Amino acid sequence: MTYQTIEVRKLAPTIGAEIHGVDLAKPLSNQQFQEIYDALTENLVIFFRDQKLTVDQHKLFGTLFGKLHIHPNASKPIEGHPEILVIAADEKSKRAAGEEWHSDVSCDEEPPMGSILYMHELPEVGGDTCFANMYQAYDTLSEPIKTMITGMTAIHDSSKAHAHTAKPGQGSDMKFPRHEHPVVRTHPVSGRKALFVNRGFTTRITQLKPKESDAVLEMLYRHVETPEFHCRFRWQVGSIAFWDNRSAQHRALFDYWPNKRYAHRVTVCGDKPFFRG
Ligand code: SIN
Repeated sequence: MTYQTIEVRKLAPTIGAEIHGVDLAKPLSNQQFQEIYDALTENLVIFFRDQKLTVDQHKLFGTLFGKLHIHPNASKPIEGHPEILVIAADEKSKRAAGEEWHSDVSCDEEPPMGSILYMHELPEVGGDTCFANMYQAYDTLSEPIKTMITGMTAIHDSSKAHAHTAKPGQGSDMKFPRHEHPVVRTHPVSGRKALFVNRGFTTRITQLKPKESDAVLEMLYRHVETPEFHCRFRWQVGSIAFWDNRSAQHRALFDYWPNKRYAHRVTVCGDKPFFRG
């Protein structure tokens, strides 16, 4: 694909590209917006450097791509901005958000199309995020496995990912969405098939017995871990990552304890996953 208003530098052969030549704090022209959208569709995750956005500008950029998601369980520390999900860890943290390979909030009936993470504070080294290409994960499965999982559905359960965030006495107030989605989904924009089960949220393949489901899911999760499907992003303060949750999974590395890492995420709503053969 050729681009006229932005520069697109690939980070790895099949996933990830840095976008240069655009200031996201300024209004985007129609062509800039379209080229950013195309670069996301083509590269599954795109990165911007040296951006200076207010909370409102961050949200405004997200709303160009769709309605913003409000997380049902996360605390909302930025007053007046429930759409901002704070991703933070420091010396008091036992874990960091997103340490398992996952697609954001895949437990929702209509999981988010994308997420836009803006880095505010970072240790000198560490805290990278890894991304994995789910088209490639599907395409490289052997034909008998593709045939077996195509048409199957799986349960994605928020309690797997978020139960540990409940504070004493808070458990009964928390909502744990749980929905069933196709194991292989068709991307609504590219029309390509992508593997859509993840270690963070998926609990069960509905059509299989529990032990069979555990074994097949473990095989698929290990397949997702194949390094050739990945890129790894080294953050700087002011970096933004915008990933497509329909075609990529990601994993945040918590290798920087006891240092602090602090970021804001806006999450763009998506639609119900479907499979078209
Ligand atoms: C997430 O949104 O899953 C967290 C990603 C990160 O902190 O790098």
